[in-house]
Amino acid sequence: MDAPRLVAPSAAWKDSYRSLVDEFAASNEPAVPFTLAFPHENFEAFLAELAGAARGVGIPSSFVPHSTFWLVRGAEVAGVSNLRHRLNDELLIEGGHIGYGIRPSARGQGLGREILRLTLLEAARLDLGRVLLTCAKDNPASAAVIAANGGRLESEAYVEARGKVTQRWWIDVRGGAPAQSA
Ligand SMILES: CC(C)(COP(=O)(O)OP(=O)(O)OC[C@H]1O[C@@H](n2cnc3c(N)ncnc32)[C@H](O)[C@@H]1OP(=O)(O)O)[C@@H](O)C(=O)NCCC(=O)NCCS
Repeated sequence: MDAPRLVAPSAAWKDSYRSLVDEFAASNEPAVPFTLAFPHENFEAFLAELAGAARGVGIPSSFVPHSTFWLVRGAEVAGVSNLRHRLNDELLIEGGHIGYGIRPSARGQGLGREILRLTLLEAARLDLGRVLLTCAKDNPASAAVIAANGGRLESEAYVEARGKVTQRWWIDVRGGAPAQSA
């Protein structure tokens, strides 16, 4: 099978994208990243919404422009990531630059590491310099993904909006995505 890669959302992956969203719903998991909650019955309108968001068009005034990527492996959309083009006061506390999710049936195979690595390359393309990731302390899989991608834990604090202790991690992308640790 070809190596997993990031693609821009497109109609070519409609059925597989929908099955990924269904898997998240069936396992009663929150939609992460948040674009998984966008309505997609009208797929063309959904794609236009994502494309607009990357240009800062059609987003709430409290939002920053954000790009969504799909991690494709073989014929399947295995994961979704979302890259915020800059931070605002809210994202600095909760949300950070990047959110990502792997469909439940594809977890535990290194795809979480890979989707973050590839999205960090996109962050480097945007010249972000340093990338902030926030992660609930009770999500050890995500913390492992971040640490494997060169994350440095800055702080841990209770975040009221999430009702959880949240970790804040930074990754330096000035030289591209950092090498992964074993
Ligand atoms: C977090 C998530 C992306 C990880 O995806 P994944 O494909 O299973 O990740 P990987 O296979 O690359 O595994 C990465 C690491 O997590 C570890 N891991 C996986 N599940 C784990 C668990 N339940 N508890 C502890 N560690 C776990 C793996 O052992 C691996 O660690 P290692 O590299 O030290 O061996 C996935 O669980 C997910 O989509 N969760 C829901 C959305 C979410 O929480 N996103 C992150 C928001 S901050």
